[in-house]
Amino acid sequence: MNINFRRGKPGDAEICASICYEAFKAIADQHNFPHDFSDRETALGLLSDLLSREDVYSVVAEKDGHIVGSNFLWENGAIAGVGPITVEPGVQNSAIGRQLMEDVLRRAHQRRFVGVRLVQSAYHNRSLSLYTKLGFDAREPLSNVQGPPIRAELPGYAVRRANDRDLEACNSLCVRVHGHDRAAQLAEAIRQETATLVEHAGRITGYASQIGFFGHAVGENNEDLKALIGAAPAFLGPGFLVPTCNSELLRWCLGNGLRINQPMTLMSMGLYNKPAGAFLPSIIY
Ligand SMILES: CC(C)(COP(=O)(O)OP(=O)(O)OC[C@H]1O[C@@H](n2cnc3c(N)ncnc32)[C@H](O)[C@@H]1OP(=O)(O)O)[C@@H](O)C(=O)NCCC(=O)NCCS
Repeated sequence: MNINFRRGKPGDAEICASICYEAFKAIADQHNFPHDFSDRETALGLLSDLLSREDVYSVVAEKDGHIVGSNFLWENGAIAGVGPITVEPGVQNSAIGRQLMEDVLRRAHQRRFVGVRLVQSAYHNRSLSLYTKLGFDAREPLSNVQGPPIRAELPGYAVRRANDRDLEACNSLCVRVHGHDRAAQLAEAIRQETATLVEHAGRITGYASQIGFFGHAVGENNEDLKALIGAAPAFLGPGFLVPTCNSELLRWCLGNGLRINQPMTLMSMGLYNKPAGAFLPSIIY
């Protein structure tokens, strides 16, 4: 099969989004899991954004001049994030996904990222096999949870909207827990007014860029995360990601009416610091 690879451009959004929607839908239907994208418009919104962002590298695969797949590398942190990667269902399992992954890994190497990470749909044998063969290590089993807002307040834990003056304290908390900050993502979330923080005993003990699929959260301990989750007016996108080994937090979420959508796996290559605190990872960083 003659496949050509090139950089993606904004005009590719429509076809890339259609492939992305169909590829995720097909694999979810095969396994009887809910769809990752509720509709085509959601996929189009995401892919249009990715194909026009300066801080996201994109690659598309073309067969006979037609796009058949795409992949993305998020370059706005110390650790690069991969995805979403999708290949048109009719041409899957013929090495296009492997080449799309190799392309972004080459890019990450050229850009000297100390680590690369992604979140994998745990029920999908093929992507797990591909990423493992390429060198990714499974780091954390995750549970994607969703449900109505919990609306719980924790005594002594005050949650409020984060602003620019909070950046330094939040970033240093992230460094203490993860070994690196996610300053660019947090600054963007503050601009988009989705970022919140929690104060306890007179200091900032946790923050969330958003409680949702594309947001991350960090806390000194589980009480901080419970306060942030409990105050969230909604869980954006298909819900948020809870490290499954954090049984206490997952149990608290389930006890408050949330349900597990699907199991996922955090995988990484290169530098990975075992978190020294409570955290919720984002799908992409
Ligand atoms: C995941 C996806 C991008 C992979 O692309 P693809 O073109 O189908 O995959 P490839 O043919 O390049 O690679 C599949 C590899 O897995 C191997 N493989 C597949 N199923 C396997 C299994 N059950 N056990 C072991 N290996 C397996 C293949 O042999 C191949 O390995 P190789 O590259 O060493 O030959 C594509 O299937 C897709 O779009 N899926 C739907 C969306 C999705 O799940 N995206 C990823 C979210 S995490």
